[in-house]
Amino acid sequence: MSIDQLAETAQAMVAAGKGIIAIDESTNTIRKRFEAVGIESTEENRRAYREMLLTTPGLGDYISGAILYDETIRQSTRDGVPFTKVMADAGVIPGIKVDKGAMPLAGFPGELVTEGLDGLRDRLKEYAKLGARFAKWRAVITIGEDMPSGTCIEANSHALARYAALCQEQGIVPMVEPEVLMDGDHDIDTCYEVTEVTLRSLFGALYEHNVMLEGTILKASMVVPGKSCPEQASIEEVAELTLRCLKSSVPATLPGIVFLSGGQSDEAATAHLNAMNQMGPKPWPLSFSYGRAMQSAALKLWARDMSGNYAAAQQTVYARAKDNGLAALGRWKS
Ligand code: 13P
Repeated sequence: MSIDQLAETAQAMVAAGKGIIAIDESTNTIRKRFEAVGIESTEENRRAYREMLLTTPGLGDYISGAILYDETIRQSTRDGVPFTKVMADAGVIPGIKVDKGAMPLAGFPGELVTEGLDGLRDRLKEYAKLGARFAKWRAVITIGEDMPSGTCIEANSHALARYAALCQEQGIVPMVEPEVLMDGDHDIDTCYEVTEVTLRSLFGALYEHNVMLEGTILKASMVVPGKSCPEQASIEEVAELTLRCLKSSVPATLPGIVFLSGGQSDEAATAHLNAMNQMGPKPWPLSFSYGRAMQSAALKLWARDMSGNYAAAQQTVYARAKDNGLAALGRWKS
């Protein structure tokens, strides 16, 4: 696989006015989401729910790619059409979550390091055969007393860089996701500092591991105050600080940056993205790779009538995709 092909995929992922839908919840996470709306997390229910999402009419109008979970990339519609074929027909690039989750970092109580490097080369080979053209690996950085430690940031950056290099070796675009969590009562300036040091460490590690940035996508968290911080920030402040932080730490050669929603409301996630895209020249397209902020309204509607009439849920998926697609151009109106 040449760098040109990787770059082409990366650019298609952040095509103007398009973004990514993250539907790669692990079995444990989707069980929690289903339980919240009174649905049992059986394999068939998970399949049916993902079929509803992926068969949304017109999904490809605003969605460039979807991140799947290991179980999902092997599944098909009720009529037997593989999900990857449904996606190809809709112009939606298949992506795959390949990390094995964030585990406690030994020696650093309260901090996490993402696992999943062992055997990754062979798993990537299989995913490529199944049709995946990009992958995702999520690292988690927690803000707290004396946290994050430099060790936690470095261990996660190192793992992200090894993952990214393996992806490119197999012709898969790595989406690198260092998520700085919103949990806690820290202020927005603390989030800025932690995000900046994390991103600088990540891009240092990518450089050391010979990762080609032209064929890489960053999935970033926004610079926001902790959820329990008494002083919350305006949309403009979040947009301005996030953009400043990214400009100070992300090389201009990167084809694009997409954001996670991280527990923000649907409206806030869209408004923040829109505000950033209204803020004048920037070196890369800024778009979305939302999980909850794309799905939460649709999940509630689907749970009410999962037996087949899910037009209302799909209309919500389309509406969220459209709003976020417009926000990726700075053209969304609340
Ligand atoms: P949220 O948008 O719900 O944070 O999920 C995005 C994601 O893929 C996290 O890894």
